[in-house]
Amino acid sequence: MTTSIDAQYEQYLNAGLTLDLTRGKPCSDQLDLSCALEDMIGGNFKTTDGIDARNYGGLLGIPEARALGGTLLDVDPKYIMAGGNSSLTLMYQFLVWRLKAWQANNPSQTFKFICVVPGYDRHFTICEHLGIEMLSVGFDNAGPNMTEIEALVRQDQNIKGIWCVPKHSNPTGHTYSEATVKRLANLPNLASKDFVLMWDNAYAAHDLDPQTMPLSNIMAHAQDAETADQIALFASTSKITFAGAGLAFCGLSEPMLKGFETFLTPQMIGFDKVNQLRHARLLKDPNDIARHMTAHRAILAPKFKRVQEKLTPLAETDLATWSQPGGGYFVSLDLKTASATAVIALANAAGVKLTPAGATFPYGRDPEDKNIRIAPSFPDMMELDQALDVLVCCIVKASESGH
Ligand SMILES: Cc1ncc(COP(=O)(O)O)c(C=O)c1O
Repeated sequence: MTTSIDAQYEQYLNAGLTLDLTRGKPCSDQLDLSCALEDMIGGNFKTTDGIDARNYGGLLGIPEARALGGTLLDVDPKYIMAGGNSSLTLMYQFLVWRLKAWQANNPSQTFKFICVVPGYDRHFTICEHLGIEMLSVGFDNAGPNMTEIEALVRQDQNIKGIWCVPKHSNPTGHTYSEATVKRLANLPNLASKDFVLMWDNAYAAHDLDPQTMPLSNIMAHAQDAETADQIALFASTSKITFAGAGLAFCGLSEPMLKGFETFLTPQMIGFDKVNQLRHARLLKDPNDIARHMTAHRAILAPKFKRVQEKLTPLAETDLATWSQPGGGYFVSLDLKTASATAVIALANAAGVKLTPAGATFPYGRDPEDKNIRIAPSFPDMMELDQALDVLVCCIVKASESGH
């Protein structure tokens, strides 16, 4: 017998939809907010310290770009490297550097990382690519499960690091509490002496709700705990200006910054300083950043609100729970039964692309097959509505067929 949900699904199948909720990409209206970048040079390539940005040199970046990175990462610019367009590249390079040091001390070991789950798939891909084994640890409301993490690093000296997305975590939208940030700053004292805490603050300025709890300053806590050499901060303007042509930043203690600079030196003479100059002139001070992010919020907040509205029937029928992020780019949806693979396959067949099941877990394996990451930023409102309708229909259909 055909149920009404089957009939509805059949309609979607025949509608020829091509919708995409996979990646957290800014939409064109958001990219348009930064078109003034194009006018920021106007024939003046001189940086504040009198350097011609068109020329070679300056691996740490121009002073005004380092200041922008300092604002985003809440540290003194002297701790900042302003890089190219991708913080992911800086994270990868940083880990290659650390891995070489771990291997030099212990050539035959397999090294391990703690991954907070659900988490950012590309962090996991970096670990896989570098042969770093991953251990999953879950969240509670204040952030990662610290008791479990502390126990793990105490037991195993081959655990060399942890990935953290501390503000508007990808995909859950958590902001870590002050108590969690303090415990994390102290974590290296419990762990192997060359442990690194990868603090990917990709959504530092990306509040959907202006009242969002501020993030406690991990470097300040690390200075108190004497662990600053083991904290690596990252951010970028990928979700502030142009996702493919922004600026990335790394924040390290002075000795670590020097070491990382030395490691990068054989690979390059310097990053794109002209782009650094453009960005630093567009986003001169914290007020510019705040204004710019308010304009992003005006575009993004209605989309996130729509996700909450469209998912509501799933709560009424107890089919799923989901996060209510105060910022960032994602909503994390947890199905009540192990059916994420089935739901995503149904949605794909109906022309709605979703991030593959398991992508938010190391090795692409969600042990419960329940998590789906929703990225509402890129589609327009009509496409988003349609895609969410299809998703909800697929969840109901999967549950009716016994998943
Ligand atoms: C947590 C997190 N870090 C980093 C990135 C990518 O940053 P970038 O564009 O600077 O490489 C993303 C993109 O979605 C992200 O969600």
